[in-house]
Amino acid sequence: MEKVAHKRRIVLVPLPLQGHVTPMMHLGKALTLKGFSIIVALGQLDQVSSWQHFPGFRFITIPESLPLSEVDALGPVEFLIKLNKTSEASFKNCISQLLVQQGNDIACIIYDDLMYFCEAAAKEFKLPSIIFSTTSATHKACLCILSKLNPKKFLIDMEDPELQNKLVENLHPLGYKDLPIAGFEPLERFVELCKEVVKRRTASAVIINTVTSLESLSLTRLQQEFGIPVYTLGPLHITAASTTYSLLEEDRSCIEWLNKQKPRSVIYISLGSIFDMGTKEVLEMAWGFCNSNQLFLWVIRDGSKSLPEEVAKMVSERGYIVKWAPQIEVLGHPAVGCFWSHCGWNSILESTEEGVPMICRPFQGEQKLNAMYVESVWRIGIQVGGEVERGDVERAVKRLMIDEEGADMRERALDFKEKLKVSVRSGGSSYNALNELVNHLKQSERGAKH
Ligand code: UDX
Repeated sequence: MEKVAHKRRIVLVPLPLQGHVTPMMHLGKALTLKGFSIIVALGQLDQVSSWQHFPGFRFITIPESLPLSEVDALGPVEFLIKLNKTSEASFKNCISQLLVQQGNDIACIIYDDLMYFCEAAAKEFKLPSIIFSTTSATHKACLCILSKLNPKKFLIDMEDPELQNKLVENLHPLGYKDLPIAGFEPLERFVELCKEVVKRRTASAVIINTVTSLESLSLTRLQQEFGIPVYTLGPLHITAASTTYSLLEEDRSCIEWLNKQKPRSVIYISLGSIFDMGTKEVLEMAWGFCNSNQLFLWVIRDGSKSLPEEVAKMVSERGYIVKWAPQIEVLGHPAVGCFWSHCGWNSILESTEEGVPMICRPFQGEQKLNAMYVESVWRIGIQVGGEVERGDVERAVKRLMIDEEGADMRERALDFKEKLKVSVRSGGSSYNALNELVNHLKQSERGAKH
């Protein structure tokens, strides 16, 4: 373990959702391996109690944050705008108290880019700060583009097919119609949010959970947009050599079930930690998987639509259902042949890192962007769009599990697996970026002392 001269504390501020907490915790682990100690600031007491089992991290509460339960009533855009407004003063108090308790020993505040209220505290107490983007570099670049749009004009332009297909400069093959706005209506408010999210303020660097070899074009664009160092540390679960930081209990019985299956014979199905499908789609999927005659392991979370009894019986003959799986371990299991995914960025990185090709069924926001990259840029999967019927599911599964094109995708996925492994080894891009980040933190620390 590398030692820093004076062990200094880093305050991490994640957005309290699984898909955002997980990479932030991995980042924290990577930094503890470099000699820093970690304080995690969270919005609610119940979150603090469910997450404080993470070894070596200290958890504190931002008392006046907005509870997640408000998302349903407000919608994601208004929720985030309000969350940032309500948390600002409270977070300043937290930092002020921490500085007293720790004898000014705070090296940096690293915050999820959606928690931009943190900058006000960093500025007030002259503390270094760094923005952490848990989604892809391409998504971050899209937010920069969206922040500069005139929403009214954009919506009119998007009625013209020629403008819809116009390519976004320096982000080939992305067209204007692909910008990730679905699910974040109205556009005016979303553009306002994007403006806040991409504002640099006093931050001295940006961290992204991605790999240079996956997104070099987007990273070049981001570097130009921000004009401060952009550190690409992904996949962070590998960089940090850590397992999943799961908020839900993992059902490990699925690993025993996988142990009994032949190599590459199982489709793993998971739609992440937030999204819930309608009953019709669940049924069509169940029929499609059963009709494909392949085996499958399906994550159906508590509170999601459950299968009617007769379908559940049919599914149990070819499939195994769990409420929450140890996903990284599942994807690394030799029995898994493909991943039916909603294309959350963590899932994409985890699947790519294990060389598992994907059937993409994106639902909202940047998931569609991620799916487009899987299918058209990296060519390690296919997309299933529109209203899904059992025949579409069956065909997609057979394309990936049986047909030759599936074998080609698997081969390309295995090439990426190798590239990602190289990136985190000594001398690799993510390995080097982590060391550069540590130097950056030490220099900011010195800068703050003088
Ligand atoms: C959310 C957004 O939906 C996504 O678009 C964005 O990229 C990140 O934030 P989420 O929907 O939860 O994330 O998806 P994803 O990013 O894939 O994260 C899910 C995490 O939960 C992954 O790390 C995955 O390993 C984990 N998981 C999922 C489990 O550990 N077990 C499961 O059974 C399912």
